Amino acid sequence: MTRFAQSTAIFRMNAQLNIFEEKIQEDNYTAESYTGIYGMHKYWSKKPYNIIRTFIKKYSTPEDFVLDPFSGSGISVIESIVTNRKGIGFDINPSAVFITKQVLNKISSFQLSKEYQRIEKEIKSTINSFYEVKRNGSVYQGTHFLWENDVLSEVWYQNGTRKKVTDKSTQNDIQFANSFKYEDIKEFFPTDKFYHNSRINARGNQRIFELFTPRNLKALALLMSEIEKTQDEKIRDILKFCFTSSIGQASRMVFVVKSRGKMNGEIESDKKEVGSWVIGYWTPKENFEINVWNCFENKFSKILKAKKLQEKAQYEVREAKQFVDLINSNSNFLLLNEPAQIGLKNFPDNSVDYVITDPPHGNRIPYLELSMLWNSWLKKSVDYENEIIVSEARERNKDIDDYNRLLNQTFEEIQRVLKPQKYFSLMFNSLDDQTWINLISKLHSLDLDLIKVETLEYSANSVVQDTRKAGLKTDFIITFQKQSNLNKQPLEILNKKDNKQFIKAAIRKLFIKSDVNSFETYQILNHLFRHFLSQNQFFNISDALDILSEDYHFTHNKWQPKNNIYAANISDT
Ligand SMILES: C[S@@+](CC[C@H](N)C(=O)[O-])C[C@H]1O[C@@H](n2cnc3c(N)ncnc32)[C@H](O)[C@@H]1O
Repeated sequence: MTRFAQSTAIFRMNAQLNIFEEKIQEDNYTAESYTGIYGMHKYWSKKPYNIIRTFIKKYSTPEDFVLDPFSGSGISVIESIVTNRKGIGFDINPSAVFITKQVLNKISSFQLSKEYQRIEKEIKSTINSFYEVKRNGSVYQGTHFLWENDVLSEVWYQNGTRKKVTDKSTQNDIQFANSFKYEDIKEFFPTDKFYHNSRINARGNQRIFELFTPRNLKALALLMSEIEKTQDEKIRDILKFCFTSSIGQASRMVFVVKSRGKMNGEIESDKKEVGSWVIGYWTPKENFEINVWNCFENKFSKILKAKKLQEKAQYEVREAKQFVDLINSNSNFLLLNEPAQIGLKNFPDNSVDYVITDPPHGNRIPYLELSMLWNSWLKKSVDYENEIIVSEARERNKDIDDYNRLLNQTFEEIQRVLKPQKYFSLMFNSLDDQTWINLISKLHSLDLDLIKVETLEYSANSVVQDTRKAGLKTDFIITFQKQSNLNKQPLEILNKKDNKQFIKAAIRKLFIKSDVNSFETYQILNHLFRHFLSQNQFFNISDALDILSEDYHFTHNKWQPKNNIYAANISDT
């Protein structure tokens, strides 16, 4: 290409960019962290409730039907109710639906406390007796036990003044801890076998119960059997929810955080602190065994506090059993533990007013495998076959083709059930070319008009943020409007060889028009998405990142121009 032709091409492109960028303005969304009812139970990739609320208010009106086909911990369903809409959630994960129902259910905190006290009276002292620590003829209450390579090395206990004492383990402590045996436990505990998946540290020859020491397993099995005796179903479920919320911390997955600390004013020593279970099934060589009653009690007090506040909340929750109930009665939410691509087939055409959803993102989080910990204790049966996921567990045969096929089926159903002119907001996060190209191509082929591309931050305490080099710190949220007869041009996937200069110029435009001289990966990709999608074009994310690294340095998590790339004319080709 001659210099002149090159400059003309760039000029034309810049003109197009100006038009599109004026059309789309960025809203500023700041994520709030999960407290209150949203902080009661862990779930991976929970969305910031305040931003979900903003979207629901923006794209729907009171009394509307709001659908989330991948509702996870249920934030969109709950926010639909809070904003006076009717919320519909699907999730294939029984734990996800269970968590959502427990968050939603308004119960009497008085009755809940009363039942907790009954359980406390029945088994607290038995459970605590499992953790007794004997020193100099006195018996103390053990709280934490440090294991190194399966040998008990340290015990933490409380003396009379509730002061924490840390001590080396004695022969007596070791013998006592080792006297608990899996085979002696009479009460129910789960024996489900893992799918082998090294990505989440799950070994195929391991079973769920091995995540716990025999002593903690005995305590948990006792606790669950006592919870099962609760008469009132709603209260029983909340107590089970409290149980599943606390079991990660009662497992051998709790690692040791070491930091240099000062002891006795002067001497520096290694201070050991208690980590927490985050994701996956890694049982570190050095791990804590925490008193099961304490884990349960801690969670219970948080949940009780949130439930007390919820009692005063204005909204009512009325569950529907099927879609027609939502239409014909005053019920305001429907939760279905079904695969969305199948369950949505029971919904009529043009029946939903807004869809907001966050599907599984490729291979990032194998929800069902991770939730085996909860589902197995709750005795839930699980439909692994229909999960939309890419899993490294070979025996599951869940590859990218299966993922794309099932996700595409769900998109078709979403388009079918969405009313004409109504909106669909899709949250997504991936750096994988094939995943994006499938997603964008499928959506482009449907009666959906792209309205807006924005970015969505995670909450400050999210555990799934991508922290890899140049990883995406945000999700993208892409909003479509259902329109028939769109007469769209076919989507063109740009190849790197012929289109490098266009991608370069689009990136350059972002830097030139802005006051700042560095951008994060997501900001650049967001800009490229808006630019190219508006022209019915899309690109490989990896090409864009390659092209980016030719002219920009990646330092302190941001891209900055290398020397003089804007000086003189362009060396794009
Ligand atoms: C990214 S998460 C949603 C998280 C949710 N936005 C939240 O805030 O908690 C995706 C969800 O899709 C669910 N899922 C996977 N395959 C599914 C299917 N075929 N039908 C319905 N849900 C499915 C997973 O269990 C997971 O909960």
